[in-house]
Amino acid sequence: MNAYKMKTELFFGFRAVEHLSEMPYRNLLIITDGFLESSGALAKLVQHLPAGARYETYSNVRPDPSQELVDEGAAVLTRVRPDLLVAFGGGSCIDAAKAMLLSACEGGMERPYFLAVPTTAGTGSEVTNFAVVTRGSDKVVLIDDFLAPDGALLEADFTRTVPPAVTADTGMDVLTHALEAYVSSTATSFTDAMAVKALRIVCTDLPAAFRDGMAMRSRTRMIEASCIAGIAFTNAGLGINHSLAHALGGRFHVAHGRLNAVLLPYVIRFHLGRSDCREAYERLAVELGMADADELLTRICALRADLGIENSLSELGCIDAARFEAELSAIAEAAQHDRCTPTNPCAVSKQDLVNILRDAFAGR
Ligand SMILES: NC(=O)c1ccc[n+]([C@@H]2O[C@H](COP(=O)([O-])OP(=O)(O)OC[C@H]3O[C@@H](n4cnc5c(N)ncnc54)[C@H](O)[C@@H]3O)[C@@H](O)[C@H]2O)c1
Ligand SMILES: [Zn+2]
Repeated sequence: MNAYKMKTELFFGFRAVEHLSEMPYRNLLIITDGFLESSGALAKLVQHLPAGARYETYSNVRPDPSQELVDEGAAVLTRVRPDLLVAFGGGSCIDAAKAMLLSACEGGMERPYFLAVPTTAGTGSEVTNFAVVTRGSDKVVLIDDFLAPDGALLEADFTRTVPPAVTADTGMDVLTHALEAYVSSTATSFTDAMAVKALRIVCTDLPAAFRDGMAMRSRTRMIEASCIAGIAFTNAGLGINHSLAHALGGRFHVAHGRLNAVLLPYVIRFHLGRSDCREAYERLAVELGMADADELLTRICALRADLGIENSLSELGCIDAARFEAELSAIAEAAQHDRCTPTNPCAVSKQDLVNILRDAFAGR
C-alpha cells in the first residue's frame, strides 16, 4: 500500500506574512538564530503578530543544531508553554524547533500550533516529518509525523538577504531533494509530479536568484520549489547522497547543501552504472526535456560550476586528507545506517560508499 501525506497547511504568495496577524493565538515562542534577530528580519516578522499577542524569542540556534541546543530550547519551550510555536529561519532553526517540540511534548507539554517560516530556499523542513540533530560527530535523522509543522508560511521577502553562496547551497539542496525523491525506491506518481515541478523551477530560477538576489520572482519560485521538493521527499524518502552528506557534515561542518552539491555527480555516476537504477534517471531526464540520463548529469555538473561550487571534497579546503582517510570507514558505516539509505534506488554496500567517497574526494 502507498500513502501520500500532507498535513501542513500552506500560506504563500503576495503578502503571505499577513496571515500571521489573523491567527487566533496570544502566547508565542519564536525559535530563530542570532543573524535573523540582529539583521532586522525578526523585527519584520514581529510586526505581523496578532494584535495583543505577547512573545518570547529563543535566538541561540546555530547551523546544524546540536542535542545540547535542543535540550536548552526544550526547557524554554516547557517554561513558556506557548499556544503558537514559530520556527523562523533556515533548516537549522526549523529542525531545532521540531526537536525541541518533540522533547517538550514527550515531557508532558500540550502541543501548540506549530508554524514554520523558512528564510532559506532550502530544506523544505517547513513541510517535512524529518529533523536533523547533531549528536557528537553524528548527524542523526529523526523521522516522525509528529515533527511536521501544522502550518508553513512561505514569504519570499525573508530570503532577500540570503548571500549568493548560501543561495547556491540551499538551491542545490532543493535539487538534491527532488532528484533523490524521484529516483527513490518508494517514489509514486504523486511524488514524481512534485519532484519534477521542483526540478523545473530549480533549473530556471536558481541561476537567476544566484546572479541577482533581488530577482524576487525567482526567489518566490525557489521558496515554492523548496517546499514542493519537501512534500516529495517527506513522502518518498531520500537516498545515499543525503546519507553521505549527513555523515560528512557531522564531522567536517560543511554547509549541508554544499556537501550535497559536491557529492551529487559522484552519486549519480554510481547509479548510472547500475542497471537496476539507471532507468529512473532516464525517465527523469525525459520528463525534464533532456535526451538521456547522461545529459542530466552533464547539466547538473554545469549548473554546479555556474554556482561556483567545488568539484571535489578536497577542493572544499576544510577536509584534511589524512583525517578523511582515517575516518573513511566510519563515515561509510554512518552513511550506510543513515535513515535516508533504505529508500535509495538500489541497495549499497559499505565498499560502494567508500568508493563513492574516494572518488568525490579526489574529483575523479
Ligand atoms: N528537516 C529536513 O527536512 C531537512 C532537510 C534538509 C536539510 N536539513 C537540515 O537543515 C540544515 C540546513 O539548513 P539551511 O540550509 O536552511 O541552512 P541554515 O539554517 O543552517 O542557515 C545557514 C546560514 O544562513 C543564514 N541565513 C538563514 N536565513 C537567512 C537570510 N534570510 N538571510 C541571510 N542569511 C540567512 C543562517 O543564519 C546561517 O548562518 C542542516 O542541519 C540540514 O541537515 C533538514
Ligand atoms: Zn537536504
